[in-house]
Amino acid sequence: MSSHEGSVSVTTSDQITEEGLKAVGNTPDPRTRQIVEALIRHSHDFAREVKLKPEELLYAAEFLKRCGEVTDASRHEFILLADVLGITMVVNTITADAPDGTLEPSVLGPFYRSGAPEVPNGADLSHRGDADGVPAHVSGRVLAADGTPIPGAELDVWGTNANGLYENMDPGQPDYNLRGRLHTDEQGRFEFWTVKPVSYPIPADGPVGELFEATKRTNMRPGHLHFIVSAEGYTTVVTELYTDDDEFIDSDPVFGVKASLLAHYELITDEEKIAAAPRKQPYWDLRRDLVLTPGTRTGVQFTAGREEPSR
Ligand code: BEZ
Ligand code: FE
Repeated sequence: MSSHEGSVSVTTSDQITEEGLKAVGNTPDPRTRQIVEALIRHSHDFAREVKLKPEELLYAAEFLKRCGEVTDASRHEFILLADVLGITMVVNTITADAPDGTLEPSVLGPFYRSGAPEVPNGADLSHRGDADGVPAHVSGRVLAADGTPIPGAELDVWGTNANGLYENMDPGQPDYNLRGRLHTDEQGRFEFWTVKPVSYPIPADGPVGELFEATKRTNMRPGHLHFIVSAEGYTTVVTELYTDDDEFIDSDPVFGVKASLLAHYELITDEEKIAAAPRKQPYWDLRRDLVLTPGTRTGVQFTAGREEPSR
């Protein structure tokens, strides 16, 4: 029988939680304190709920280490992880102040590049024509909720080509292909050409791919076009418009699809219209007004770039 019996009691995991919370009790910044305290409480509860084993904790640490190892200028595995766990869309949805009829946010994704070339209304974002995909014409107006046009609003647009790759993942595409920034005219109108979005797999060759394999989920995103819409005096919206007839529209692996973000493309075969189009062939037409809410214009802090092709 131990000589300590009766004088020392076993430490419980709840006591460790209490100690952990005490340890951060002097955090001067209230928001930092709130976040760190909640992180301690929830992670401890999580470990208790699943009875996490030491080897599983170590596995998680190695998993995150590998997320760091595959992250580079054109790929951000931690963002991808937050996306596929639905954390990104929960954060977007609780932060958004998007009353009915206004433009709702969706996922930024790991492939945004800031600094896309500024292009005039009517420009074609595709630098390679047929090699990029089937042409699509996108037009509409940026409006306030009462229907007032917003002139000078910026649309920062990006998409993949027909092989489902963004230019910074594809050495075959020119720099900033299928990316561009344009501004609405005096009547709030915008117009540009690109290619019809296709569904594509999110990268499965890293740790996030292992998670997909283990959970037997599809990694196919429905076809979409990315937008960041911003204007002075209005809340910046990071969003996507999803092609409504895409076969993966109901199983987006990052939970970005919302009813208000469905986009219907109409196939244009009229000869006069084709003759006026840049590529003189049938094209898809999408018309969509984008409604902003009053608020603060913010930038998007993001570090992605393009790896220099290694050839
Ligand atoms: C994308 O649409 O670019 C994307 C979004 C989230 C995860 C992966 C890709
Ligand atoms: Fe995308």
